[in-house]
Amino acid sequence: MTRLDRVEQTTRFTEPPLTPRTAVIWSVLAAELDRRAGDQLTVLDVGGGTGGFAVPLAQAGHRVTVVDASPDALAALTRRAAEAGVADRVRAVQGDGDALAGLVEPAGVDLVLCHSVLEVVDDPAPVASALAAALRPAGAASVLVAGRAAAVLSRAMNGHLDVAAALVAAPDGSAGARDTLRRRFDADSATALLAAAGLTVEEIHGVRVLADLLPAAVADGQPAALVELERALAARSPYRDLAAQLHLFARRPA
Ligand SMILES: C[S@@+](CC[C@H](N)C(=O)[O-])C[C@H]1O[C@@H](n2cnc3c(N)ncnc32)[C@H](O)[C@@H]1O
Repeated sequence: MTRLDRVEQTTRFTEPPLTPRTAVIWSVLAAELDRRAGDQLTVLDVGGGTGGFAVPLAQAGHRVTVVDASPDALAALTRRAAEAGVADRVRAVQGDGDALAGLVEPAGVDLVLCHSVLEVVDDPAPVASALAAALRPAGAASVLVAGRAAAVLSRAMNGHLDVAAALVAAPDGSAGARDTLRRRFDADSATALLAAAGLTVEEIHGVRVLADLLPAAVADGQPAALVELERALAARSPYRDLAAQLHLFARRPA
């Protein structure tokens, strides 16, 4: 091993334990973190919850602010950060994603995460604009949204053909007042949302292509094989577009 190999090895981002929910996202993030190896990044995690992404990013040396509406989630985040020894690099801010623009300094963030939030906020367009505005030029956005196609298929396979039909017909991909989500996306609609906010989408992956379809005995019995298969399918048509979630990696133009 050359000295250069050793330097590169020690500075490469080490992915935390991977699950079918996180493996593809961490693969994408790891490439960006490796690209910026040696830099301490300023990270903003909107709706970051209990810190499933924030704490590993802080453990990798980055400074992370989590904005979340839930005081309970933020309390759990604070405990988790303390237990991991990174309390000094994690800041918890209670706030509503819909009011993000008033909570975050403009153009100060290298990497913004917004996972499983755009489907529940009142209006995703101003949130997407606020994500873009928070980023420095050339900063990156990791956005995870609920996929419409998977929801249609799962409702239909469970016998709820009326709900599946409603999900297909509704412009926003929501089945109405009793739906837990306000909207769902496909690759085109999510790309259009981020593009309208001024972000350039560089990559789209499917997350949980198979995980929700398998019997628990298979998923629990072969976790490593499932993670590998999810990674193999994530960028491939038609699997990507049938995933429960779509992950978009986007960038603010330099
Ligand atoms: C499904 S969890 C996702 C947590 C984390 N992003 C992840 O992927 O593991 C959604 C999170 O968004 C937060 N949330 C929901 N609506 C929000 C809003 N309008 N503004 C800010 N946070 C919100 C919830 O409190 C919760 O912590």
